[in-house]
Amino acid sequence: MDRIDYLTFFVNGTEIIARDCQPEWTLLWYLRNKCHLTGPKLGCGEGGCGACTVLISHHDEASDKIVHRAVNGCLVSICSVDGCHITTVEGLSSIKDDSLHPIQQRFAELYASQCGFCTPGMVMALYGTLNNIENPTMKDIEDSFDGNLCRCTGYRPILDAAKTFACDKQSVDCNKNQSVDPTTIISTTENKLLNYSDTQCPVFLFPPSLLKHKVQSIHISGKSSEWYRSTSLAELIALKREHPTAKIVSGHTMVQMDRKFKDKKYSVLIAISQISELNVIEKSEHGMTIGACTTIAKFKEYCQSCLQALPSHQMRTCQALLSQLNIFGSQQIRNLATVGGNIMHGSPISSLNPVLQACDAKLKLINCNNSEEYEIPLREFCLLKKKLGVEHNQILVSVYIPFAEKNEYLQSYKQSKRRKLDIPIITCAFQVKLEQVSIQVNECAPDLKWKIQSTCLALGSMAPYTITMSKTQDYLRDRPWCRQTMKDALKCLLNELPLDEFSPGGQPEYRRTLMTSFFFKFYLFVTEQLRETRPEISTDELSPSELSIATPYIRNLSRGEQEFQSKPNSNYIVGSSHTHNSASVHGTGEAKYTCDIPTPSDGLYSALVLSTEPYAKILSIDTTQAEAMPGFKAFISHLDVTGSLMTGDVVNDEEVFPTTTIYCIGTIIGMVVADSEEGAQQASKLIQVKYECLEPLIVTIDQAVEHQSYSGRELSLKFGDIEQGFQESEHIINGEFYMGGQEHFYLETNCCLAIPHERGELEIYASTQNATGVQEKVAAALGIPSHKIVVHVKRIGGGFGGKDSIRHIRLCIAVSIAALKLKRPVRLTLDRNTDMLISGPSSSFKYLYKVGFTSSGQFKALDITLYSNGGWSQDYSVPIMERALLHCDNVYSFKNLKCYGRVCKTHTQSATAYRGFGIPQAILIIENIVEHVASYLMVEPVKLRRMNLYAENDSTHFQQILIHWHIPKMWDELVKSSDYYQRMESIKKFNRENHYRKRGIAMNLAKLALGFTRKYMYQASALIHIYRDGTVLLTHGGTEMGQGLHTKTLQVAAEILQIDITLIRINDIATDKIPNASSTAGSTSSDLYGSATKNACEQINERLKPLREEFPAYNWFELISAAYYQRINLSAQGFYQTPHVADVDFANNFAHYPYFTTGCACSEVEIDTLTGDFHILRTDLLMDFGLSMNPNIDIGQIEGAFMQGVGMVTVEELIWGDEQHKWLPPGCLFTQGPGAYKVPSFNDIPIDFRISLFKNAPNPFAIFSSKGVSEPSITLSTTVFFAIKNAIGSYRRDNNLNEYFVLNSPATCEKIRMACADSLTKETVGEEQHGTFQANGSY
Ligand SMILES: Cc1cc2nc3c(=O)[nH]c(=O)nc-3n(C[C@H](O)[C@H](O)[C@H](O)COP(=O)(O)OP(=O)(O)OC[C@H]3O[C@@H](n4cnc5c(N)ncnc54)[C@H](O)[C@@H]3O)c2cc1C
Ligand code: FES
Ligand code: FES
Repeated sequence: MDRIDYLTFFVNGTEIIARDCQPEWTLLWYLRNKCHLTGPKLGCGEGGCGACTVLISHHDEASDKIVHRAVNGCLVSICSVDGCHITTVEGLSSIKDDSLHPIQQRFAELYASQCGFCTPGMVMALYGTLNNIENPTMKDIEDSFDGNLCRCTGYRPILDAAKTFACDKQSVDCNKNQSVDPTTIISTTENKLLNYSDTQCPVFLFPPSLLKHKVQSIHISGKSSEWYRSTSLAELIALKREHPTAKIVSGHTMVQMDRKFKDKKYSVLIAISQISELNVIEKSEHGMTIGACTTIAKFKEYCQSCLQALPSHQMRTCQALLSQLNIFGSQQIRNLATVGGNIMHGSPISSLNPVLQACDAKLKLINCNNSEEYEIPLREFCLLKKKLGVEHNQILVSVYIPFAEKNEYLQSYKQSKRRKLDIPIITCAFQVKLEQVSIQVNECAPDLKWKIQSTCLALGSMAPYTITMSKTQDYLRDRPWCRQTMKDALKCLLNELPLDEFSPGGQPEYRRTLMTSFFFKFYLFVTEQLRETRPEISTDELSPSELSIATPYIRNLSRGEQEFQSKPNSNYIVGSSHTHNSASVHGTGEAKYTCDIPTPSDGLYSALVLSTEPYAKILSIDTTQAEAMPGFKAFISHLDVTGSLMTGDVVNDEEVFPTTTIYCIGTIIGMVVADSEEGAQQASKLIQVKYECLEPLIVTIDQAVEHQSYSGRELSLKFGDIEQGFQESEHIINGEFYMGGQEHFYLETNCCLAIPHERGELEIYASTQNATGVQEKVAAALGIPSHKIVVHVKRIGGGFGGKDSIRHIRLCIAVSIAALKLKRPVRLTLDRNTDMLISGPSSSFKYLYKVGFTSSGQFKALDITLYSNGGWSQDYSVPIMERALLHCDNVYSFKNLKCYGRVCKTHTQSATAYRGFGIPQAILIIENIVEHVASYLMVEPVKLRRMNLYAENDSTHFQQILIHWHIPKMWDELVKSSDYYQRMESIKKFNRENHYRKRGIAMNLAKLALGFTRKYMYQASALIHIYRDGTVLLTHGGTEMGQGLHTKTLQVAAEILQIDITLIRINDIATDKIPNASSTAGSTSSDLYGSATKNACEQINERLKPLREEFPAYNWFELISAAYYQRINLSAQGFYQTPHVADVDFANNFAHYPYFTTGCACSEVEIDTLTGDFHILRTDLLMDFGLSMNPNIDIGQIEGAFMQGVGMVTVEELIWGDEQHKWLPPGCLFTQGPGAYKVPSFNDIPIDFRISLFKNAPNPFAIFSSKGVSEPSITLSTTVFFAIKNAIGSYRRDNNLNEYFVLNSPATCEKIRMACADSLTKETVGEEQHGTFQANGSY
C-alpha cells in the first residue's frame, strides 16, 4: 500500500514539509520548539487553560468549505495536522506591522490583558469563533471562551473587547447610566461595544495549494513509535490485523492525557479521522446515525439543527443530548473530541454514555479479526466492556440514536465543581416511557392517568463505569407516574447505590443527594411537560414555586460598568487611563516570559525528583537506572550544595535538598539534569528512593493542635479590657469556623534558566517576584558573593505571592547549583501539576471566637483565636498570621479586643504568601462574626455593620489612629447606589415565589493596611538614563506581573520630566542595575517604585533647571543635547523610603502603616438549592484609591482580585488526604492541575458587575495622592459568600430550620447543597445530622 512518510501543513501562511516529526510531539511543542513561536503558551498541557489555543483550518471536500477549529495545541498530535493550516497568534499581526489585527487592537485598548500570559489563547479562541460563525451574537462570543482561563482580569474587559465583534450589539441600550456630572466618567459595556462600528474580522487567507490537498495514507516512523493514518475501513482493518495492539486515535484528547498522566506508551498508533464511514451523520424517520469520528462540536451543531426539523416528542432526544453537549469540555475540546472516542474510552465520567444509554443508543462495531460488522445496545456494551474489557480488535463505526416516542420523556443532568470546562461530580440521564391508563375511581367517567411502561436511570461518576439502576427501574415499572412513586423510587435509588467515605472521589453524601435531587428534578420536568402537552390526562399538581427548577437556568449576558472621577487638571499624564504598556505585545504573542527565552545551544534541562511520602526518613537513593538513560548528565542532591545547606524566608528552616528526612509529599529530594526536557523527565521517574515512614503524621490543623505541633512563636494583641467588655455585654456568643487555602494558579508556571559565566559568575533568568531574594539565597547556597550573580526578570505571567518565597527560590537554587557544577546553562520549567504540588498554597485557617454585644447590637468585646495550617516549614506563615491578627477588627470598633494566633506545623507543603497576605482570612472571619450576631439578634446585617463602624480618629486595636476615614460615607453611598433595601424586598418576594431557587444579598466592607510588617522593606530604587537623542530608559526594582506597575511608573516619569510617554522605555529588572529591591508584594509597588522614579526624575529636573531657565524655548531634544554638551549628568538613581512606618511590635500592641485602603461591596446571588449551583447576579464595588494614577488599570485590578476572591470563597477547594478524605493516601494533594482544581471562569463572573472609585478623596500619604490597589478587593468577595449563605438561609427557613448555621469556606456546590437541608439531604446524612451536617473540607 502506498503511504507517504511526511506531513504537509502550513503555519501562519508558510508551507512546511516535515519529514522528521515524532508521533509523541504535540502541535504546541512543535510550534514552540521547531517554529520558535512564543505566542502559543504552555499553561497546563491538559486542555484545561486554553493558553495554547491555535486555529486549525482545513478544506472539507464533502462540503467544499474551509473548516476552522480553535483547538488546544497541547492535545493535538503533530502527525494529525497533515493538510491543515495552523494559525497562531503571530499569524494575525505583529507589532512590527503598521496596524494590529482588530482583535489584538481592541484587547489592548479595552484593557483585556494584564500579565498577558493568557492573552494569545484568548485572541485565538475569539478568532476561531469569528472565522467559524458568520454573524456571531454576543452569546456566541461569550460561549467562545469556555476553554480559556485568566487569573488576572476578572474576564469582564475580555468580554467587552470581544463583544465589539457581535452582530447584535446594536440591541444594547447605550444610554443607560450616562453621567450627568462632568467630573465623573461612566463607562459601560454598552458604550464600549458601540464605540466600535466595525464588527468584521479581516478575511482569513487559506493557502490555495491546500484546497487541492489530497488526503493520503500516512506512515510516520518515529524513534519510539509509528503513526499510521488510514483513509478507508479496509485499510484500518488490515492495519489492525497487522498490528493487533495498535492504538486507535480519533480526536487524540484522551490518548494524549493517558500518555501524559498515565505514562502510557504506544508503539503503533492508527489515526482514523479521515475514514468516511466513520464520519457519517444521517437522520432517519426514527433516529439518527452518528459516525464514531464525528466531533462533539459537529454533533452539537447537528442536534441544534434538528431541533427545528423534528416533531416535538423527537426533539426531546436532541434536547437531552444538548444538555450534555453544550457543556462538554470547551470549544477547543469539542472541536477535537469525538463521539466514538468518548464511548470507547469508557470513562466513568463520560458525559455521553449516560444520556446515550437513556436514549437506548445502539453501536455498530467491526471485529477486525473477521471483518464482521455487528450491532449491540450501548447498555449491554458498557457492561460487557467493564466485565471483559474491549478487545483491541473492535472498531466503533457509528452509533444509532433512536428518537423519543410520543409518550417518552428524557433529560440529562451534570453537576461539576465549576459549570464550564469541568468533569462531572455526577452526570445522569433519565428516561421514562409512559402509557395512559384509565382508572375507574367512582361511577363517574374513568380518570385517565399515566403509568410507567419502562425507565432507564443511567448514572456516571458513581462507579468505575456508567451504571443503570436496574432495581429502581424494575420498581418503577407499571407504577403510576406520581409524586408518591417518585418519593419511593428515591429510597430505592439510595438503597441501590450506597457509597462510603472510601469511595473514589469522596463526597458520598453529596453525590447521593445529587442523584436523588436530579431524579426529583426529572419528575418535575416530566410532570410539567405532561401538564403542558397532555392536560386532558390528570397528573400531579405542581406548586408554582416548584416550577422554576423544572427547567434549566438561563443565564443572562454579562455586562460591566465603571465609574470614576475624571483626571484632575493639575496632572499631566498621571491620572489618565493609559493602556498597559505591554498590551500590544501581549496580544501579538511577542511578549517574552522566562519560558520563552531560548535555551542556549549548550543548554541542559532538568526535572525534579519529589518525595512520594509525607513524613519519612530517606533510606537510600538509587540513581543507577536514570544514569543509564541516554542524555543523562547528573543527579543534583544535598551532596552538591557548596554553601549553606539551610535556607528559608524569615528563618532558615529548610534544607536546600533534604539530607535525611522529608516532611511532606512533594519535597524536592533532588534534580535530574539531561540534554533534553523529556529525557530529564523520564530519568527523574527512574530515580528510586526508599523511605522509612515516620509518625505521628500530622496533616490538619486539628491534628496539629492535638499534638501541639506549631511553627514560630505565639502571637497576640490586646486592646481595651476584654473581661470588662464581656461583663458589659448583654449577649455573648461563641463560634467556630474553618476556611480552606487557595492555590495561586498563575497562568505561567515557575520557570528558571541559569547560565554560568567565567570565574563562577552566574546569570539567572527567573519568573520571580523577588529578584533580590533569588540573588541572595542562591549566593548563600552556592557559597559565593552576591555580586557574582545577576538575576533578570522581564515580566511574569502572574504571581499573586506564589513567586516570591523560598518555595520558588529553591528552584532557582537547584538550577544554579547544577549550572555551576556542570558549567553549562540549565533550565527548569515546571509542569502545572508539579508546580501546584510544590509551590505551596495560602494557609487554611481555623477560628474560635467569642463575641459580646448589647441588645441593640453594639459590639462590646471580641476574643478570637486563629490557627493557620502553615505546612512543614515557616515560609511566610508567621508574618501572614501577624497581618491576619492586625486585621481582625476590619472596620469595626469592638472597644475591647483580644486576638491570638498560632501557625500549625503539619506534613503538607508549606503554605506561602498569597494576595492579601492574611487579610482576606481575617476579614472573612470578622464578617462571619457580624453575620452571626445579626442572625442571633435578628437584625438587618447592614444596620448592624453601620452601627459598629469605626469613626474618624478612632484607634485600631494596634493603636493606629484612623484619619481620612471615609468608610461610613462610602457605606452610605453604596447602600444607596446599589438599591440595597429595594433589592432586598424583591429578593424576599422572589424567595416566597420560588422554593428551589433562592436569592441572597450581602454587603461587606474592608480596610487594608498596605505594606509589610517590617520597616526595612519600605524602600525602593529606580534608575533613569537619558540618552543624547532624548529617549529615556527607566529601570526599577519592581516586577511587572500584570498589575500595571510599569505603566504607572512610565506615567510618573513622563509626568515629572514633562515629556511624551512614548519617549520612555522600561527595562527588565536586573539586580546589577537595581540592588537590594524588596519583593514586589503587598500592593506597595506603585507607591514605592513610583516614588523612587519620581525622585530620580526630580534629580534630573534639578540638574536641567538652569538650562531650562537659560533657554526657555528649547524643546526636550534641544535641552538634552545642550545638557550633554554642558557635561550635565543625565543619569540618576532615585531612592525612596516610605515615611511614617514602623516595625510591627506585638510585645507592645503596636503597628503603624502609612495608610489604609478601604472599600465596600454588595453582591446578589441566586442558588439552585437542589444542586448547589449558583450565579452572581450583580456585584457593586466602591473602592477608595485616593486619586487613582490610572483608573482603568486600577479597575482591572479590582475586578481581577475580586474574582480571585470569589474563587477563594466558592469554587477553589484544596483537597488532600486527611481524616475527612479517606479515599486519598494521607498527606497527598489531590487538587493538582486544572482538571481537579477549579478557578473561576468566564461563566462565573457577576452578570452585572459595577465598579466605582470613591471620589474627592486624595490620599496625602502616597504618590500623587493615590493608593495601593492590587490586594484590597479580593477581600470583598466575602459578599458573595454571605449572599450565598443568606440564600441558603431562606431555603432552610422554608424547611423549618430557623437556627443559625455554620457554612465553612469555600462555599463549594457541595457545601451549598448540603447546607440546603431538606428531606433529600436527610435521607443521605441521617436524622441526627439533619440541619447540622458539615460537608468535608481540608483545613
Ligand atoms: C480538558 C478536557 C475536558 C474534557 N471534558 C469532557 C467532558 O466534559 N465530558 C466527557 O465526557 N469527556 C471529556 N473529556 C474527555 C475526552 O475529551 C472525551 O472522552 C473525548 O470524547 C474523547 O474523544 P477523542 O476522539 O479525543 O478520543 P481519543 O483520545 O482519540 O481516543 C480515546 C479512546 O477511544 C479509543 N477509540 C477512539 N475512537 C475509536 C473507535 N472508533 N473505535 C475503537 N476505539 C476508538 C482510542 O483508542 C482511545 O482508547 C475531556 C478531556 C479533556 C482533556
Ligand atoms: S496548555 Fe493547553 S490548555 Fe493549558
Ligand atoms: S492576563 Fe490573563 S492570566 Fe494574566
